[in-house]
Amino acid sequence: MCGIVAYIGAKPAQSYLIEGLKRLEYRGYDSAGLAVLEGGKLNVVKAVGRVANLEDKIEDLGGFRGTIGIAHTRWATHGGVTEFNAHPHTDDRNGIAIIHNGIIENYAALKTYLEEKGHKFQSQTDTEVLAMLIGELYAPQEGVDLEAAVQAALREVTGAYAIAVICEKEPDVLVVARKGSPLMVGVGAGEYVVASDASAIVSHTTQAFVLDDYNVVKITRSGFRTSTIHNVPVTSKIMQLELELQEIELGGFSHFMQKEIFEQPKAISNCIRGRLNMDEGRIHLGGVGNFSKELSKIKNIVLTAQGTALHAAMIGEYLFEDLAKVSSVAEYASEFRYRNPIVEENTLVIAVSQSGETADTLAALQEAKERGALAMGVVNVVGSSIARETDAGVYLRVGPEIGVASTKAFTGQVAVLSMLAMYMGRKRFMSADQCRDLMKDMERIPGLIERICEQDARIKKVTEKYIHRENWLFLGRGYNYPTALEGALKLKEISYIHAEGMPAAEMKHGPIALINDGMPAVFIANKGRQYEKVMSNIQEVRSRGGHVIAVATEGDKDITKYAEDVMYIPEIPECLSPMLAVVPLQLMAYHAAVLRGHDVDKPRNLAKSVTVE
Ligand code: F6R
Repeated sequence: MCGIVAYIGAKPAQSYLIEGLKRLEYRGYDSAGLAVLEGGKLNVVKAVGRVANLEDKIEDLGGFRGTIGIAHTRWATHGGVTEFNAHPHTDDRNGIAIIHNGIIENYAALKTYLEEKGHKFQSQTDTEVLAMLIGELYAPQEGVDLEAAVQAALREVTGAYAIAVICEKEPDVLVVARKGSPLMVGVGAGEYVVASDASAIVSHTTQAFVLDDYNVVKITRSGFRTSTIHNVPVTSKIMQLELELQEIELGGFSHFMQKEIFEQPKAISNCIRGRLNMDEGRIHLGGVGNFSKELSKIKNIVLTAQGTALHAAMIGEYLFEDLAKVSSVAEYASEFRYRNPIVEENTLVIAVSQSGETADTLAALQEAKERGALAMGVVNVVGSSIARETDAGVYLRVGPEIGVASTKAFTGQVAVLSMLAMYMGRKRFMSADQCRDLMKDMERIPGLIERICEQDARIKKVTEKYIHRENWLFLGRGYNYPTALEGALKLKEISYIHAEGMPAAEMKHGPIALINDGMPAVFIANKGRQYEKVMSNIQEVRSRGGHVIAVATEGDKDITKYAEDVMYIPEIPECLSPMLAVVPLQLMAYHAAVLRGHDVDKPRNLAKSVTVE
């Protein structure tokens, strides 16, 4: 969603800010803006649309040489997509400018209070309210400097925020703060780069610290001071950023989504490395080891997530019941959090999330924790809000995912859930030999994904054949029912083709009415317990004129009798097959979007991490 970059140092801030905004473009946005202090004056420029539009405007103004500034990409929540609503926002008295991610929930009451004090608002945003509030409280002659005014304003605020603030009257000070939205400070030589995401920092420095909730950091060119909103000093621990620059660059690929699909072999290798203990026939997961006793007593598992992560969680539901024999359910976090869920004794809640910042998933986790569940995270971004909120957790270790359409995080989530299910299984009914056999198959996954990716050109050809069709079905059963949902989501989110995913057997209960001449129906028809049943479902579609595209197991000759186009995956135990079956679907969606001329990495209306409910 929105992105934050701020700079203070000895060099012109503008290039840092623009570069940072470009690195954050992947998060999704609809307008951008920047404020630079120069010669004691605040210069604010905003533009609707791409960062390139903002750059053009700045160039027309001759550029800025000031060495302190803030910049933002906005994804509209309060108020439409206009320059007025874009950040930075300013107060009307002191030359204070602010950028903000998150939502100020009590903004309406604060706005009324500030209007009564004579402040005039220009935008419809909650952020402008915060700018005015800081301005209202700012009284340097009475000892309330920018840092103190920010602390005081944040004491009045309910909601979530990551903010960066500058002020004409304090040209050597940058104040940043966080509650609920991620923010980190990169510490360079005589300069600081603040950002909502490490990708905007790593080209300048690999030393950084993450703000905790309610932290306020006052940064000058000679140092920084961290405190709480109540001005209690806090020690910020500087860490080494693990992120490599090449991980956030295209490196010869046309799009991040394409790069990340092809990166899956390496991503899964990293994900499973050191976690499969062949000698002992058990899984080693550092982040859950301390809860070994509690985990052996677990009676129910609730997996909660949104979007693609929910599809991985749904596969987790099958895995835990099959491999660990623990009753499991996967639920939309947005529903779970509001439906008064019954959390019985010995319940484990697993929040699955790439970003670790999805607002609904975080809230569902908190709700379950409050009701007494043991909280576990299956998260990619280290140190993210969900990772910090959990009792135990397993990181995906698939590297940063920049493409808005999630690909390698999905396979990573399924890989981690598979390992977790085996871990739990070994505590119950699974023998060391059974576990060893599955681990051997897990080890094959990276090489097998590579083999599927070699069919890329063929998959593109198949996609071309159906590219003008506006309605698609994705059907699967058992472990690959959630894979079908994921195939449909991938296609719709980047190619804007209407696609529905469902259990293959459900089709007869209504959706079969949609099948008409030439409608593409993608079946996941790999060899498994329900293969014959899927074959019957395929014939039901064929006999009504639908075009069948099948994802089938290598060596399956019969499938060509029923399907017009086949994309093959290597043979693997059914419980691990979603990690393979999803790959041709990801490639199809990618090619469909490119063939239709869409910007794959910046799909319309979508944000990479959804930090509002
Ligand atoms: C789709 C996609 C989204 C996310 C969802 C949850 O390609 O990426 O559906 O899966 O917004 O995001 P995380 O995993 O960050 O919690």
